[in-house]
Amino acid sequence: MPRVTDPLKIRNMEIKNRLGFPPMMSGSITNGIPGDNFYHVYEPIAKGGVGLITVEASSTDPMNNPIQPCLGLDGNIPAFKKFTDRIHEYGAKIGIQFAHGGILTLMMIAIMKFPMPVWAPSSVDPVVASSAYELINPNWRQDLEKTGFKEIHEITVEEMNEVGNRFAAAAKRAIDSGFDYVEIHSCHGTLYHDFYSPYYNQRTDEYGGSWENKTRFIKETVEKVRDKIGDNPIFVRISAEELLDDGLKVEDQKKVAVLLEKAGVDCIDVSQGIQVRTPEGINIPTYIPPGGFIHYPEAIKKVVNIPVIGVGNIIDVKMADDFIQQGKADIIYMGRQLIVDPETPNKYFNGQTDDIKYCIGCQVGCGGVCVLNPFERHNYKELIPSEEPKKIVILGAGIAGMELARVAKLRGHDVEIYEKTDRVGGLMHVLTAEYKKEQFMNIVNYQKIQLNKLNIPIHLNRELTTNEIKDLDCDVLVFAVGTEAVLPVKYKDHPNVITQDEAILKSKPIGKNVVIWGLDTYWKGGTETTITLREQGYNIKAIAGTEKMLAGILTQARLSGRVTWIHHYFQDNKIPVFKKATLIDVTDKSVIIHDSDGKEHIIEADTLVYCGARTTPKKTLESEFENVGFKIEFIGDCKKPRDIQAAISDAQTLARKL
Ligand SMILES: Cc1cc2nc3c(=O)[nH]c(=O)nc-3n(C[C@H](O)[C@H](O)[C@H](O)COP(=O)(O)OP(=O)(O)OC[C@H]3O[C@@H](n4cnc5c(N)ncnc54)[C@H](O)[C@@H]3O)c2cc1C
Ligand SMILES: Cc1cc2nc3c(=O)[nH]c(=O)nc-3n(C[C@H](O)[C@H](O)[C@H](O)COP(=O)(O)O)c2cc1C
Repeated sequence: MPRVTDPLKIRNMEIKNRLGFPPMMSGSITNGIPGDNFYHVYEPIAKGGVGLITVEASSTDPMNNPIQPCLGLDGNIPAFKKFTDRIHEYGAKIGIQFAHGGILTLMMIAIMKFPMPVWAPSSVDPVVASSAYELINPNWRQDLEKTGFKEIHEITVEEMNEVGNRFAAAAKRAIDSGFDYVEIHSCHGTLYHDFYSPYYNQRTDEYGGSWENKTRFIKETVEKVRDKIGDNPIFVRISAEELLDDGLKVEDQKKVAVLLEKAGVDCIDVSQGIQVRTPEGINIPTYIPPGGFIHYPEAIKKVVNIPVIGVGNIIDVKMADDFIQQGKADIIYMGRQLIVDPETPNKYFNGQTDDIKYCIGCQVGCGGVCVLNPFERHNYKELIPSEEPKKIVILGAGIAGMELARVAKLRGHDVEIYEKTDRVGGLMHVLTAEYKKEQFMNIVNYQKIQLNKLNIPIHLNRELTTNEIKDLDCDVLVFAVGTEAVLPVKYKDHPNVITQDEAILKSKPIGKNVVIWGLDTYWKGGTETTITLREQGYNIKAIAGTEKMLAGILTQARLSGRVTWIHHYFQDNKIPVFKKATLIDVTDKSVIIHDSDGKEHIIEADTLVYCGARTTPKKTLESEFENVGFKIEFIGDCKKPRDIQAAISDAQTLARKL
């Protein structure tokens, strides 16, 4: 069986290995053509050793827009040619994905709050068509109407012809620009996908009904593209399943795959989900295990004789290699992993696996700047050695303290860390004790290895006294000491009220029947703590909080799979949710709240898990060490309770300033 390191021939194109970077919208294009940011996104990935890169969903329209690469204009060819030449210098093949928004245009309306024409096979209900928005926002119908949007336009045969012609013309421009292959976006709810979908396609003409009819549009487009690009490969990306009870199933898509092969397609790229209904298949949360969708390409591979691509939270090259050897896919795409560490392939092939920085699956910056690399991609700034190396002492070995130590040492500073507990990682041990969040520990493991390699002393079980701090011989003292979970004064010593940390770590008794206070996630609330406790067998009587939304902190207009997964979980398990609530009292048998209408609810419960209050010692420390003879800095949660993105960003920003 082939290995991940083996080359692969697709039509006239030979790829040096079987790892690829999938199309991922990056927001890095400059008015339709590659500018500096675009190079900072794609060049490191090519340099890192992948066999092929498929450039993100691009436009075939004859006008530039600020969001998408555009090959709808001949005038853009030279700029793309320069770009593909650069990528080819690293031996990677480069393709480009072309997309027509279809139903996915509803996502743009949600983001821009502006009515745009939505073209689909049938004029279905736009709210059902974008049900993930309704899941997290019950006012979605009214909000959509407020933008001025009226209805989905049922695409005519003439318009389909026009779309197909534009795809073919853009494909020709792509090949003229030096791209090695083109991919048709036919998944996630874009127009070509919508034709296979049982909900979106309710047509009765020759484009609806049978599989031959539903694939007629893409078949015609593939023929037009083939006509224009000769022997260059055509990839088609499909969603193997829509991940809906009544949606498209892999058994259906097997039929589609066979018809695509017959139509002349050279490679089937297998994804899953609909961005505006089931984004958990696209922006995959850690609740789904690494490689958890590989059975889809495996199923498709069984019915076609052309290469098949598999994708989905595959961050380990060893796993990719196993999947390829097991015949589950011919190529493995690594998306977020190559954003976190573009050098993953080279490091793996050269046996430097220790140095790979693995994705934590947080879903926060993937469409822009990764939370673990605040100075890469669109925000690229070279790391320059310090001209004036300093002695830096850091208190606290959470992710903020360790990241500062790592980057400051790389710049030539002399660094050491004091940590009061017997382990590094701080609050990440609480976070990763939550349900299926173990992957987040990847950053701690990476930092630990790197600090060791850089010979940075970490003094564990060492809390310096005030005098010891004042006597330090250093240029800069950095407090990275994090926060403490606290309770409101009224409940401070209440036997039935405990903090989020205590509930997760089981460091205080917790009863069987539980109410959670705080509707958000992370330190601000208990959404994921609710899931954790429920999965551990506790009886969750309710979750309540002052917030307007459940898990609102994770809500981006683009819809993350994490937020929709959480909402589905709450809905499926019928967990009572009280939004905009007021906490009235806790007795030994109940939690009393007022709902948003002021109505009282006495909920029988043994324990209230109070999430959402953390304090930092910053103010006290500032006054205590006001007049010491060295500079004082604060980073991470200790500066202000926030999140991983802030902890890493604070640390790297300071390390680059020192
Ligand atoms: C339940 C939960 C879930 C979360 N989930 C997410 C999430 O999904 N995504 C996200 O982005 N964020 C999440 N967060 C927030 C995230 O964990 C924190 O923002 C981040 O870990 C803060 O890192 P830090 O290094 O600033 O602080 P900490 O991790 O708190 O580290 C501080 C370190 O300093 C040490 N220390 C304290 N006092 C001293 C002293 N005097 N001397 C020496 N050492 C000292 C501590 O022992 C600790 O090791 C979550 C938080 C919680 C509580
Ligand atoms: C920010 C972001 C942008 C994406 N953009 C596209 C896109 O333009 N076209 C597409 O087909 N898939 C897109 N996807 C899906 C990815 O190609 C890929 O399938 C997904 O990230 C899962 O792979 P991973 O777990 O290795 O990251 C996007 C995903 C993310 C998170």
